Amino acid sequence: METQPGKANRVIHGDCINVMGGMAASSIDMALTDPPYLVQYRSRDGRSVRNDDRAEWLQPAFSQIYRVLKPDSVCVSFYGWPKAELFLSAWREAGFRPIGHIVFRKRYSSSAGYVRYQHEQAYVLARGRPELPSSPIPDVIDWQYTGNRLHPTQKPVSALTPLIESFCRPDGVVLDPFCGSGSTLVAARKTGRQYVGIELDRRHYETSFRRTLCW
Ligand SMILES: C[S@@+](CC[C@H](N)C(=O)[O-])C[C@H]1O[C@@H](n2cnc3c(N)ncnc32)[C@H](O)[C@@H]1O
Repeated sequence: METQPGKANRVIHGDCINVMGGMAASSIDMALTDPPYLVQYRSRDGRSVRNDDRAEWLQPAFSQIYRVLKPDSVCVSFYGWPKAELFLSAWREAGFRPIGHIVFRKRYSSSAGYVRYQHEQAYVLARGRPELPSSPIPDVIDWQYTGNRLHPTQKPVSALTPLIESFCRPDGVVLDPFCGSGSTLVAARKTGRQYVGIELDRRHYETSFRRTLCW
């Protein structure tokens, strides 16, 4: 496991279940994460996502997220709609309560089959009873194509910043335990929040480390 110095603003290389197990309970203000969708994803150029072919990690990871979050806080989690029931039962078992659902609208199709697949999706989950935002954000957000150059499922920073601004206090710490190329961490920095990222794959860990250093 490798870390950058300091309590927050760090990227950690390792399995998030083990890493979060070593973190203090109730120490994180918001979790914003994009776990594997459990769909055996393969990009057009043949790249895959670690742990996208097995679900054993799902419930233990979200139990740890729940434990390290402060009481009355929010976790926003992307998920794969074909396996929605697995995600919802893992979240509920961990203690989370769904309080919103966000659709990210794409101007292009990721693929086509029975329909043209043109959205991503995330649940807004509560630990306890988070304060209501003074000006709630819409639950449909426009999506900018990233080109997936840094990661096969790279999320656009512009879609993440409104979530952090809405659900994390200005001096708070944002956790992304499946941080990939570090898009959440860049969004946290951009909005003045602190961040902790965890990534299993060494190449992606190195990308997010570099990306947050030179932002
Ligand atoms: C959907 S991707 C995240 C992409 C990221 N949002 C971005 O914009 O680059 C999920 C990531 O979780 C990582 N991962 C899978 N299992 C993990 C685990 N147990 N601990 C930490 N990271 C894990 C994968 O290597 C992958 O990079």
